[in-house]
Amino acid sequence: MRCKLFLLLWGLPQVWGSSKVPQGNFPFRCLQSLSFASSSWTRTDASAWLGDLQTHSWSNDSEDIRFLQPWSQSNFSDPQWEELQRLFRVYRSSLIRDIQDFIKILHSTYPIEVQVSAGCEVQPGSASESFFHGALQGKDFLSFQGTSWKPAPGAPLGAQVVSEVLNQDQGTLEIVQWLLNDICPQFVGGLLEAGKSELEKQVKPEAWLSSGPSPGPGRLLLVCHVSGFYPKPVWVMWMRGEQEQPDSQQGDILPNSDGTWRLRVTLDVAAGEVADLSCRVRHSSLGGQDIILSWADGGRTPVGLIVLAVLVTLGLIVGLILWFKKRSFYQGL
Ligand SMILES: *[C@@H]1O[C@H](CO)[C@@H](O)[C@H](O)[C@H]1NC(C)=O
Repeated sequence: MRCKLFLLLWGLPQVWGSSKVPQGNFPFRCLQSLSFASSSWTRTDASAWLGDLQTHSWSNDSEDIRFLQPWSQSNFSDPQWEELQRLFRVYRSSLIRDIQDFIKILHSTYPIEVQVSAGCEVQPGSASESFFHGALQGKDFLSFQGTSWKPAPGAPLGAQVVSEVLNQDQGTLEIVQWLLNDICPQFVGGLLEAGKSELEKQVKPEAWLSSGPSPGPGRLLLVCHVSGFYPKPVWVMWMRGEQEQPDSQQGDILPNSDGTWRLRVTLDVAAGEVADLSCRVRHSSLGGQDIILSWADGGRTPVGLIVLAVLVTLGLIVGLILWFKKRSFYQGL
């Protein structure tokens, strides 16, 4: 049996002490999207995440899963990783074939979007939890529960049919259980150990203020920019004195290309009421020392800079004119 062979190859699960793994929750998620535009056009891409840190990517154009961290192979040996990757290649091509078959059986119409989210969460000293969910056209479709596939609550009738067909394949059911219950926690345990310093890193945010497009006559849109921080959790608020401004509008926390995060928080105020407003930033990297930018200072700086720039430019022009005049005066001599 294939499964037994894999188990032998991997040996006994590792035991890790709680001091060797980072504090906090770092669920491991593999996300896969499959697009079927027609019976002949398909593509599938995947990524893997430990907490909010991306560890792997797998493009449709590649046979190999790409490592995004130096420790993305966890504590698996090259042959173990090669074997796992080979298994995923088989999974990827069979899944595409199976979905195309189901599209025919269920008389579904293109385009079809399928999403898969699978992984596990490992907590030192407690049992790990694994999950495998499938969605169709953006809605929960089925999931792997215990030892078999189950249709999602409220899923279309097709989910029942698909689950029944999938549950007849005992070999695949065993491999899925083995991947979710044995391999995933082992792999993630190794990732947490190897990536500890990266996962626990603290990068301080930079913050600055600007004004956005005016929301209306006599009104200002104040924008507080916070960027370059890690980890992701952050608290940013417009304040009037010590008073939080509940009208503060927080945008999405977006990724920077270097793995840090950024965020904008805006406040729509009457132009005459900006005097005692400030933006306050709280983040784990700041060690309790919040960043506080007051609009009165922050708002004036750009104006001051513009005035300075205009003065310098004027000075240069005047200087040049004088220099030219002087030169033509001497040339005239
Ligand atoms: C995705 O990969 C498959 C298998 O290599 C290939 O047949 C297909 O054409 C690719 N899709 C796109 C859109 O490149």
